[in-house]
Amino acid sequence: MDIFRTKSVEQSIRDTEEPEHRLRKRLTATDLTVFGIGVIVGTGIFVLTGQVAKQTAGPAVALSFVVAAVVCGLAALCYAEFASTIPVAGSAYTFSFATLGEFPAWIIGWDLLLELALAGAVVAVGWSGYFASLLHSIGLTLPGWMAGEDPVVNVPAMVVVAILTAVLVLGIKLSSRVNLVIVMIKVAVILLVIIAGLFFVKLANYTPFIPEPVASPAVEGLRAPLIQVLFGTTPVAFGVLGIFSAAAIVFFAFIGFDIVATAAEETINPQRDLPRGIIGSLVICTLLYVAVSLVVVGMQKYDQLSTSAPLADAFTAVGQSWAAALISIGAIAGLTTVVMILMLGQSRVLFAMCRDGLLPRGLAKVHPKYGTPARLTVIIGVVTALLSGFISLSELAELVNIGTLFAFVVVAVGVVILRRTRPDLPRSFRTPLVPLLPVLAVLACFYLMLNLPVETWLRFLVWMAIGCLLYFFYGYRHSRVHGIHTMK
Ligand code: ALA
Repeated sequence: MDIFRTKSVEQSIRDTEEPEHRLRKRLTATDLTVFGIGVIVGTGIFVLTGQVAKQTAGPAVALSFVVAAVVCGLAALCYAEFASTIPVAGSAYTFSFATLGEFPAWIIGWDLLLELALAGAVVAVGWSGYFASLLHSIGLTLPGWMAGEDPVVNVPAMVVVAILTAVLVLGIKLSSRVNLVIVMIKVAVILLVIIAGLFFVKLANYTPFIPEPVASPAVEGLRAPLIQVLFGTTPVAFGVLGIFSAAAIVFFAFIGFDIVATAAEETINPQRDLPRGIIGSLVICTLLYVAVSLVVVGMQKYDQLSTSAPLADAFTAVGQSWAAALISIGAIAGLTTVVMILMLGQSRVLFAMCRDGLLPRGLAKVHPKYGTPARLTVIIGVVTALLSGFISLSELAELVNIGTLFAFVVVAVGVVILRRTRPDLPRSFRTPLVPLLPVLAVLACFYLMLNLPVETWLRFLVWMAIGCLLYFFYGYRHSRVHGIHTMK
């Protein structure tokens, strides 16, 4: 039984040329950067900033963003090399198929499905919250059963997912045009927060910058970060440890730059443009996040921040409700593109997995008119809509993070392996300081994973166990690589 059979890089690229499985190549470096910012700036900055400042890090949340950005930066350099070497849909899944073998690739693909499906649903729920609050501010209050704190069925979230599914089926160029307009609105709103907010900053709000550590019920039992349990320390919030626990959560705000790599196959000049798109969007977002978080904790004492709409509410708190309304509109627009691109990324990963036969191949047929994997897109739309409609997902953001960090670890390991096994491949972007930098990336990701709660680890392990069963009962037998090996 050969579960570590690899699929050669050449085979991966050849597969993209089969007419019925071919995606259209239309994207440029600018498209990719816009695409990156479109998916990166979302619930993380608009919602989690307030939550972690209030509960875990205090004003030092800005440092948590820096820690998370450094971890992502290390991973991004590895992603960039991979994406420029193997410009094929499927991101980390495809990369690991070429290096580590089929089973590890399946595990990563399965892991990415967790990341993308849950993240899409989490952000759709966040969207619905801002939508309800905007309607409320103009005097229209949605009934509690369909929106707000704890709805029975979250109707706005389901509707927005349905509309975005239709947009995605119609074609990626249309999607990236819509994205461009929305990204401009979103960035304008973030700049508004930074510039207008500066006028209301009170220096007193920055002391203490790193609040004293306190034992808190919010971090007890299964909610305690694994690292604090492993080392037998009393779980605490705030303090220096709090900065790192918070970094493991605000990491969510950076998720998405890796999704740029899933669009490799649709990029006109992937070797040059993918690294530019990935690293460019990451740098821009880091600058915006650090600035926004510093301004917001300067406007309001950290323990007063709102946890549902902290940016808007900080302006309401200083009597500027006009700005609060504008920020809500920007957040709604911003979260829309995040959901859309998460779904797009997910369809591309699933597409690659079906094309390889690890999931039913028929699902990966490209629509004859629109050139998009329409069937998969509809399936993903339905699943995301159901998740967002019926499940309350706040803690699941942590599950998204652990899944993503795990994928980063595998990509970093993969870069080192591919350098050894295929030194001959043209790499237009080379990760500097190999193997030192990938090793640092692995350690940094693993460290953030350890800062996530015990229950997140348990959920993650259950999901992975289900994935293993599926592979041995379906994927292993139907794999196309398997077919090729047997024919020889
Ligand atoms: N980075 C994305 C967000 O913050 C997933 O919503």
